Amino acid sequence: MKSILLFLIGLLSISNNAQIKESYMSTKIVVAHRGASGYLPEHTLESKAMAHAMNPHFIEQDLVLSKDNVPIVIHDIYLDDVTDVALKFPKRNRQDNRFYVIDFTFDELKTLQVTERFHPKTGEQVYKSRFPKGKGNFKLHSLQEELELILGLNKSAGKNIGIYPEIKEPGFHIKEGKKLTEIVLKILFDFGYKTKKDNCVLQCFDAKELERIRTELKSELFLVQLTEFDKDVKNLEYIASFADGIGPWYKQILDKKVNDKWQFTSLVSDAHKLGLKVHTYTFRADAFDGFSSFEEMMQTLLIDVNVDGAFTDFPDLVVNFLEK
Ligand code: G3P
Ligand code: CA
Repeated sequence: MKSILLFLIGLLSISNNAQIKESYMSTKIVVAHRGASGYLPEHTLESKAMAHAMNPHFIEQDLVLSKDNVPIVIHDIYLDDVTDVALKFPKRNRQDNRFYVIDFTFDELKTLQVTERFHPKTGEQVYKSRFPKGKGNFKLHSLQEELELILGLNKSAGKNIGIYPEIKEPGFHIKEGKKLTEIVLKILFDFGYKTKKDNCVLQCFDAKELERIRTELKSELFLVQLTEFDKDVKNLEYIASFADGIGPWYKQILDKKVNDKWQFTSLVSDAHKLGLKVHTYTFRADAFDGFSSFEEMMQTLLIDVNVDGAFTDFPDLVVNFLEK
């Protein structure tokens, strides 16, 4: 009798989990990648506010710790390809000639000007048609500042746009004696992001760290394993044991062209069979290698191969495409 009861309780909890996943992720989602970064310098509050007005489902935060343990919203552990750090603090580079976020306090970071992404060696702007490099008055900011902005806009605009934070380079942080993951999880919890229902997806490229987030740190958030190479998706069963989805580079989904039409790898269907959502990156209207147009990229990946979500620098275009 007791074993039948336990079996029924087990079934109930499986179906509850399935329900949560289904209701939360039942439509194709648009993630504003680094904000509306096709229009304003990435990861600035201005870019996040603009993204919010474009109605994506989520806005992304890449996270790196400052010297005084403040999670900063920035794509890399380096500062020199999106700020004027080399001019303001010319002697604070490491031996590799790079300037590291982790070597600066939050107050010091706040003195930097943020600009459109550029190659530090040449000074050349990466995406030529985007916001002009060196113009405007943009600053770095913390995770807390961004959450206040998004939750504030959700209130004032009557929306429920979610967040999609990424733990950046956990191995590097641990080597530097920093607890990035624990600090971020605490802030998310304090802002009310606690379970899969709370409109927060936590992502990481490091599978061991994401597994630790689920098992050791006991996070109940929706977890997405980012991938870039074939080796990263060799063991999808392992990923499915702790994650709710994968975030592959879109080229991992494309196989070869036959008669000018893309054939696909089995990645999306393999992931779906294991109950994993697939949110692929990155949809850029000014860089869509492999396709003849951005429209073709959206049609192929979002419709033909049926991924569940897209990271995009142009949230307005992908939202419009999906609405059509
Ligand atoms: O996190 C999804 C996508 O942003 C991964 O690429 O390098 O832009 O963080 P990256
Ligand atoms: Ca990211």
